[in-house]
Amino acid sequence: MSKVKGCIFDLDGVIVDTAKYHYLAWKRLAGELGFYFSKEDNERLKGVSRMRSLDILLEIGDIQIDYKSKLKLAEKKNNWYREYILEMDSSEILDGVIDFISQLRENNVKIALGSASKNTETILEKVGMTNCFEVIIDGNKVVKAKPDPEVFLKAASLLNLRPQNCVVFEDALAGIKAAKMAGMYTVGVGSKDILKDADIVIPGLHAILANELLSLF
Ligand code: BG6
Ligand code: MG
Repeated sequence: MSKVKGCIFDLDGVIVDTAKYHYLAWKRLAGELGFYFSKEDNERLKGVSRMRSLDILLEIGDIQIDYKSKLKLAEKKNNWYREYILEMDSSEILDGVIDFISQLRENNVKIALGSASKNTETILEKVGMTNCFEVIIDGNKVVKAKPDPEVFLKAASLLNLRPQNCVVFEDALAGIKAAKMAGMYTVGVGSKDILKDADIVIPGLHAILANELLSLF
């Protein structure tokens, strides 16, 4: 019998493709600050908290400012980002997500969401997925950001499950690291070249059946 009793999903890049909106907002901020921010640079921000993302962006632009100014810039970026996410609807749910989650439910697997984003509630509401998760842990509910395992450990504990009975689905290196540190199985969603440390890597949730997952772990 499978050891898997719970699945914890990252949000950005696993359930919905919001990375493109984060990119547009960060690029606009970089533009205002007078430098170009490439798509390759944006890869470094995946899975990383808002303030840490800003630090990386400022490092790329070789800009040094105090903490108060950083807070203002982060807020500015977030306001632009929110303009995009407020326009989202269910058509932005990634391929295979709804199907895969319902297959898991049929197999009595518990479902949680574990995201670094403080906009999680808004996004889930906009795409109509708030009720798909028994437990939701987002950036407002943790003290330490990924790659710290706090977000996944909290999710498992609220599901009443042990870490070794949980699988984490993640598109970011920081998230895979966090899940591994939590002692969970990891499924990388994206490219094998980037998500080297994951137990398995799939291109998206459309590419796996719940039965396959349960037979693997
Ligand atoms: C993660 C994204 O899910 O959330 C990061 O991958 C983002 O790119 C982080 O910086 C924080 O998001 P937010 O919505 O709180 O700014
Ligand atoms: Mg992600």
